[in-house]
Amino acid sequence: MAGATAGSKTPGALLAAALAVVFASLATAEAAWKGYCQISCGRCPCCPTLDSVLKDKGLGMFRWMLNFSDEGEKTRMPGYMATLLAPTDGAIWAALNKLGYSSKEAVEKDKNARDIMADLGRYHVLVPVEPLKVP
Ligand SMILES: *[C@@H]1O[C@H](CO)[C@@H](O)[C@H](O)[C@H]1NC(C)=O
Repeated sequence: MAGATAGSKTPGALLAAALAVVFASLATAEAAWKGYCQISCGRCPCCPTLDSVLKDKGLGMFRWMLNFSDEGEKTRMPGYMATLLAPTDGAIWAALNKLGYSSKEAVEKDKNARDIMADLGRYHVLVPVEPLKVP
C-alpha cells in the first residue's frame, strides 16, 4: 500500500508544481508585465500601491477625490485589491464646475460638496466580488 501512495501527488503538491511553472515563466522582475503585482511587504517599492500608480499617471484630482472617503487611505495600503475607474483631472474639474465649484478650497469648505466627492470617489472603486477573492 505504501508503494501505491508514494507516487501519487497531493492536491497541494500539484498546486505547488503549477505555481512553479508560472513563476518559472516570470523568472525576473523584468519579465513580469507592468501592473502585475498582487503582494507586497510594504517596505520596498517592488509592488506599488494603487495610490502611487495614480500619482505616476498624474491623476491628482482623483487622488484628492478619494481622500473624501476611506478609499483614499485604502489605496495607499500595499496589496489593496480593487479596480479603479480613474477619471482624468479635466473630467473631475468639469464635474466640479457643473456642480458650481471652481476651486478645491470651495469643495473642502462645503459639507455637501465633501459628501458628493466621497460618493463619487466610492463609485469609481470596484472591489473584487466574493468568488474572485484569493482565499
Ligand atoms: C490624501 O490624504 C493624505 C493623508 O492625509 C495626504 O497625505 C495626501 O496628501 C492626500 N492626497 C491628496 C491628493 O490630497
